[in-house]
Amino acid sequence: MDQTVGIGVTGGIAAYKIADLVSRLKKIDLEIVVLMTEAATRFITPLTFKTLTGREVITDLWSDPREYRVKHIGLAEQLDLLVIAPATANFIAKMAHGIADDVLSTLVVANTAPVLVVPSMNTRMYENPIVKRNLAILAECGYHVMDPASGLLAFGTIGKGKLPDVADIYGEIMRLLNPSI
Ligand SMILES: Cc1cc2nc3c(=O)[nH]c(=O)nc-3n(C[C@H](O)[C@H](O)[C@H](O)COP(=O)(O)O)c2cc1C
Repeated sequence: MDQTVGIGVTGGIAAYKIADLVSRLKKIDLEIVVLMTEAATRFITPLTFKTLTGREVITDLWSDPREYRVKHIGLAEQLDLLVIAPATANFIAKMAHGIADDVLSTLVVANTAPVLVVPSMNTRMYENPIVKRNLAILAECGYHVMDPASGLLAFGTIGKGKLPDVADIYGEIMRLLNPSI
């Protein structure tokens, strides 16, 4: 397939499920680059993704200043698809307003490839009108926003906001990479 997919992991409780997604994507012929926010590294370690992808995980905007091409620009030129999963309420707000204050949000601003956003948060956060408005802004800008699933959430509550099944996210990625299928 020879395509490059950026997986941006942000700091939600569902971050651990993205290890399964990355593992499935690595089984087909895709180049996977994982980027994590600082908060995401509290939920799952970069080492997990480094082991699964065989590549350094990008967590820092400022490392390797000797590189000729700064990371976020060099990577933006290579990507066929950027996936933000899980996408926190905070990160969705940053995306909706063009905030570029860490390596992942800076890549989002530099990126021109299709973007898949997979929100995941507590129902109370998901129902917040500002979160809904920010998601609508992303959809208006042409980002593909997945609908969260309903069910039992972390901390024992039931409602909408759950990360969709990894198989469904995988299916959406395949559809975006192969629009003719
Ligand atoms: C235990 C715990 C679980 C959290 N889960 C979520 C979540 O599922 N979704 C969400 O939007 N925020 C969640 N948060 C809040 C985010 O971690 C927080 O807003 C953080 O600033 C997000 O940073 P980031 O968007 O840069 O990754 C959680 C926080 C804690 C302490």
